Amino acid sequence: GKTILITGVASGIGARTAELAGQLGADVIGVDVREPAAAAGSFVKADISSKAGVDELVARLPQRIDALCNVAGLSGNTGAAATLAVNFFGLRALSEGLAPRLREGGAIVNVASIAGFGWRANLNRAASMVGIEGFPDVAEVVADHAVRNEEGYPVSKELLLLWTFRAAHQDLFKSRGIRVNAVSPGPVETPILKQFRTVLGDARVDSDIARVGRAGTSGDIAPVVLFLCSDGARWVNGANVPVDGGLEASINAEVL
Ligand code: NAI
Repeated sequence: GKTILITGVASGIGARTAELAGQLGADVIGVDVREPAAAAGSFVKADISSKAGVDELVARLPQRIDALCNVAGLSGNTGAAATLAVNFFGLRALSEGLAPRLREGGAIVNVASIAGFGWRANLNRAASMVGIEGFPDVAEVVADHAVRNEEGYPVSKELLLLWTFRAAHQDLFKSRGIRVNAVSPGPVETPILKQFRTVLGDARVDSDIARVGRAGTSGDIAPVVLFLCSDGARWVNGANVPVDGGLEASINAEVL
C-alpha cells in the first residue's frame, strides 16, 4: 500500500482521515502531540509547534512517503503566536522537511478553513508573513505584523492558503511532480468547534451552520482529503476545495 502521513490523528478530522485511509489499504503513519485513543496504523508522538519539534519528527519518519496530510491545528484560543506556529509555520516546516522523501507524483493536502476566506482581501499582510522563510520566532512575527489574538486563527489559514498556491509552483515540490492542495472545511462537529464557539460566539457559528442546514462531520471531510492524495487528482494542483455544504459559495454569491 501507499504510505500516508497524517498529522492531528488523535482527534476529529485527522482521526477519521487515518481510519478511512487504513480501510482503503494505505499504510498510515499518524502524528499528534497527544496519544490517540485508538491508533489507525503506526503513531509518532510529536509537537510541530517548534523547529526542534519538527526536526525531531522528520528524523523519525521513513525515507519514502506517498502523501502528507497536514490536518493538525489549533483553534486560536491559546493566542496568535501559538496558533500561527502550529497551523502555518510548523505545518510548512514539516512539508519542506519531508519534500525530499515524498515520492515523485506524491501529494500534500493542507486542511485550511473557511476562516481563511480573507486571504485575498488581506493579501499584503499574508504575503509578507508567507515570505518569511524557515521557522521564525513566531511571537516576533505576530508583533511585527500587529496580529491580534483573535486574528491568529483566520490569519493562520490565510497564510496556509496563500502558501498552498505558491508551493504548488515551488521547485521543491513542482520539480518532482508533488501536488500541493488545500481543503477548507466549514463548521465540523469535532472538539475544536466548541473552542470556535468560545472564540467567535455561538451566534456566528450557528448562523454559518444555519446557512447550509447542518454542521459537517469528520466523515464529510476525510474522503475529499484522501481524494486529493490519490492519483485520480493527478491534474489538481494548487487548488483550494471548500468542503462546507456550500457555505463559501453562499458568501461569494452574496458579494457578487
Ligand atoms: P481537533 O481539535 O479535533 O483535532 C486537532 C488535532 O491537532 C488534535 O488531535 C491536536 O492534538 C492536534 N494538534 C494540535 N496541536 C498540535 C501540535 N503542536 N503538534 C501536533 N498535533 C497537534 O480539530 P479538527 O476539527 O479535527 O481540526 C482539524 C483541522 O481542521 C484543523 O487544522 C482545523 O483548523 C481544521 N478545521 C476544522 C473545522 C471544524 O469546525 N472542526 C473547520 C475548519 C477547519
